Amino acid sequence: MRIIIAKDYEDMSQKAANIFNREITKKPNIVLGLATGGTPERFYELLVQAYKNRLTDWSKVTTFNLDEYIGITKTHKLSYHTYMKEKLFSKINIAKENINLPNAQGDITKNGQTYDQLIAKKGGIDIQLLGIGENAHIAFNEPGSEQDAPTREVTLTKSTIEANSRYFDSIKDVPKTAITMGIGSILKAKKIILIAEGIKKAEAIKNTISGPISEKIPSSFLRTHKDVTLIIDEKAASLIEK
Ligand code: F6R
Repeated sequence: MRIIIAKDYEDMSQKAANIFNREITKKPNIVLGLATGGTPERFYELLVQAYKNRLTDWSKVTTFNLDEYIGITKTHKLSYHTYMKEKLFSKINIAKENINLPNAQGDITKNGQTYDQLIAKKGGIDIQLLGIGENAHIAFNEPGSEQDAPTREVTLTKSTIEANSRYFDSIKDVPKTAITMGIGSILKAKKIILIAEGIKKAEAIKNTISGPISEKIPSSFLRTHKDVTLIIDEKAASLIEK
């Protein structure tokens, strides 16, 4: 596991965006794994900026997002479909048919299997972006998730619902379940970049790097992967044992 400590949020975002922009240039038909949430907002602005400056071409790029809420529609203003459309997809030349997000409507078990099969059919994810929850979840794999878990339905924990409630009018409106790529699906990516900023993530980052590899700390399973880079700001890095 490589650890890059960035000065601040801007520096973290630039370092991560530089890697993605470089990889897109190197492999025009790259398969990207993408995350939502507060952390990658500036990262997406920087990807859009590079596209506008003609440094990248997304016409052959394929994307797979990590997760989507169950119980709200795709077009809901806080769905991850809407987030991705607003922050990235409507601003670059990606082909609609190359955009993939987990389908949170209908038979979720079947949708999860179809999603994992589609990722495999596209040759697997070349580079996966991850954020991390305060409870060390990756995607929506909450504590207790198994190392080989596939894409499936999950129940969000109280701490995740509380963290996500900052975007909703009331905590009652926050979806309680989601469809998420599993840890097993994530670990199949060839390369993984995890970004984190702020003191709230410091404990999760410490536990990702040291301590037992365990279902209690879903992100600790990243230590079993051969190409993971954490790009974290100084606050998120502040509890790392020297
Ligand atoms: C989002 C996702 C989540 C977030 C995590 C951190 O697609 O899978 O794991 O990365 O909850 O969220 P923020 O960045 O809002 O702190």
